Amino acid sequence: MNVLSVASEVFPLVKTGGLADVVGALPSALLPHGIRIRTLVPGYPAVLHKLKKKKAVGSIGNLFGHPARVLAADYDGLDLLVLDQPALYARDGGPYLDTTGRDYPDNFRRFAALSLAAAEIASDSVVPGWKPDLVHVHDWQTALTPVYMRFGSAADIPTVMTIHNIAFQGQFGASVFPELSLPPEAFSMQFLEYYGDVGFLKGGLQTATAITTVSPSYAQEILTPEFGMGLEGLLASRVASLSGIVNGIDAATWNPESDPHIPQNYAPGTLKRRAANRKALEERFGLDKGPGPIFCVISRLTWQKGMDLLAQVTDDIVALGGRLVVLGSGDAALEGALMAASSRHRGHIGMVTGYDEPLSHLMQAGSDAILIPSRFEPCGLTQLYGLRYGCVPIVARTGGLTDTVIDANEAALAARVATGFQFQPVTADGLRLAIRRAMHAYKEPKVWARLQNQGMKSDVSWAKSAERYASLYSGLLAKG
Ligand code: ADP
Ligand code: GLC
Repeated sequence: MNVLSVASEVFPLVKTGGLADVVGALPSALLPHGIRIRTLVPGYPAVLHKLKKKKAVGSIGNLFGHPARVLAADYDGLDLLVLDQPALYARDGGPYLDTTGRDYPDNFRRFAALSLAAAEIASDSVVPGWKPDLVHVHDWQTALTPVYMRFGSAADIPTVMTIHNIAFQGQFGASVFPELSLPPEAFSMQFLEYYGDVGFLKGGLQTATAITTVSPSYAQEILTPEFGMGLEGLLASRVASLSGIVNGIDAATWNPESDPHIPQNYAPGTLKRRAANRKALEERFGLDKGPGPIFCVISRLTWQKGMDLLAQVTDDIVALGGRLVVLGSGDAALEGALMAASSRHRGHIGMVTGYDEPLSHLMQAGSDAILIPSRFEPCGLTQLYGLRYGCVPIVARTGGLTDTVIDANEAALAARVATGFQFQPVTADGLRLAIRRAMHAYKEPKVWARLQNQGMKSDVSWAKSAERYASLYSGLLAKG
């Protein structure tokens, strides 16, 4: 089976979050099931620069006023198609934001173009001799693909739309509609019209053959007003086509036994070796030595991620004898609050702002626990990396965090299945209490080692979820 996967980011070429990790990992996870995925991404400078050997395999004469080329390249096991259209993608900033951190004003056009190109590739008119059996799109940036397919010549090909985060919907003023090259009837309740605006994600959810999200719990949550962000009614009407498939991790990139970014590799049987990584971590963040645990946070610094709650408990962590290391960037106020905490508690709290992939590996390999106080979390990947690295996750009980971490309650401890700590309500007090519980467990080395070992044994691979995607795909093909 040939699948076209369409996304606005893909690891290791361009990444702002977990979306890239998942889009980058799916092709090799699905290959053993006889599924060959080609991934279409925009030709951002970062992508074009990294791809040394690329060849033009197709062209689109007029894509929103400019000609575009489709390039093909192999990179790190990925079979890529790259949409090369400098007018839209040759920019100095990131994939979505300019160098000052503002959304590009033409993002609607940049991602409508990606979606339209995907639909044209699906219709066999762009890349000679290649046509997908199914198209899989991710998040709002690619959500117009099934809409263009419906109104174009690829209406018969099944589509899967995966929601990685329903908070980002691609909602634009109605004035953009005439620019989208869609027939007038597409601006209606059945398609794009969304409270008088144009909703990219809405359009995708209305037209995709199947909808998935990245954990079973989040699939339930988004049916409620609390988590559905206005789309709960639409999703309820499509509930028969909605499922939750939990993310796995790229087990080669995230493997403590061979990770090149950490000073000391280790395995479940050799956890003591983590001490060398802990020492490197202390040095990197300027932490004093101490008997208490080191908590880490690797996150976008946003309200979603509960980073304001973290800022409220920093003093308590230090008062209880813990230390904290933070890596992240995002909201300036939250960044400021955490920086202030690190200045207040020099030697106990360290912070690095920005984005640093190798450092994130060292933090998982050297910290004792990872804090994830998210208010909502479709899946979450850092708790999965934590499990694999013996860095015990302390998580809010929400979305994919619920589905992937087993709380260390009495029953789970007795059954030897606990892998971390969950807390609810997701408040500063809830987080504080969870940190206290973890500190208590940390004082009993046997209990702690068991948590680490059980976490390292838990299956965070793509194996089971790849099977679920494979059977979803084949089910859709069989129906078609
Ligand atoms: P989200 O996609 O909502 O940000 P996930 O937990 O799914 O959350 O994925 C986040 C990904 O980004 C993980 O791979 C994590 O390690 C990485 N990450 C987040 N912030 C940073 C950072 N500042 N530096 C390096 N990696 C980061
Ligand atoms: C989104 C979500 C995150 C999820 C990731 C990959 O960014 O916020 O929870 O893990 O997508 O699916």
